[in-house]
Amino acid sequence: MQSVDWERAINERRSVRSYEPRAVEPDTMSRLQQFASELHVPFDHDVAIRFFKADPSKRLYGTPLTPPSDHAAFMAHTDIVSISKAGFVGELLILYATSLGLATCWYGHFSLDELERVMPHLDASSDGERPKWGYGRGEPPGVHAICITPLAYWRKEGLRAFDRITGAMMSYRRKPLAELLQDGIHEDDLSPDIRCALDLARKAPSAANSQFWRFGVSDDQRTIEVAMPEGYRHFKWEHPNVDIGICASHVWLGLQSRGINPGVHVARDNGRAIWTFSV
Ligand SMILES: Cc1cc2nc3c(=O)[nH]c(=O)nc-3n(C[C@H](O)[C@H](O)[C@H](O)COP(=O)(O)O)c2cc1C
Repeated sequence: MQSVDWERAINERRSVRSYEPRAVEPDTMSRLQQFASELHVPFDHDVAIRFFKADPSKRLYGTPLTPPSDHAAFMAHTDIVSISKAGFVGELLILYATSLGLATCWYGHFSLDELERVMPHLDASSDGERPKWGYGRGEPPGVHAICITPLAYWRKEGLRAFDRITGAMMSYRRKPLAELLQDGIHEDDLSPDIRCALDLARKAPSAANSQFWRFGVSDDQRTIEVAMPEGYRHFKWEHPNVDIGICASHVWLGLQSRGINPGVHVARDNGRAIWTFSV
């Protein structure tokens, strides 16, 4: 993988919803495309990153935002494990884009009609009534755009009220690690490597900043598990296993930054994707 200061990218990334009205520089775009085509992750997957252009309009994201012209979609099958892998792979692209100075924002709620118009991707099995926002509930058949992101330059001047509010309410707030550890393990008992990896993991983005991931660490600290609590349901976001994959990518980057190349396994269990790291 290209040499990137991942820790810095994790600390600098924010969901940005206000952009300069210009396209991504061609050189930057070709670096992104090269990164996507060479991306190596420690598991098999069929996640694809599709770059696309859309004429700036408010229709795609449906928020008080005028999106720029460049975007990426994270394409995958819709079973729980595949969407979680889309979260993992997508976050690597988002962090790489951050390291190139680009602004991004994960969007699970995009206008499906508008996305299909600017980036045709639905097959015949999706004919019939389409969901309005996002790819739909449950596990519809075929490959879908699981989430999308703008790729742009952050317009810091003249932030709209919407950005100020979401920035203040959501962006910077994260739960402390102690709240996320399960099975009675204490932060002070963690090895420095695991503590560092989990500290980067807790900074991951999640829909509405819900941060529903929980971390299990085995007594011998050879195994880390990342999953949402059993039976977790989000009142607005139907696919929280995407976010679990995003969080898992931060664990992986954190362990790698400490010189550890863990075994990585993801499995489905009762509606949850459970990521296991063997160190
Ligand atoms: C899977 C996922 C889906 C998201 N979907 C949306 C969305 O549809 N609309 C939106 O405005 N923000 C969306 N977000 C951005 C979150 O609100 C944001 O990540 C969270 O508030 C934390 O802020 P930060 O990313 O600035 O750290 C999404 C984030 C994730 C991880």
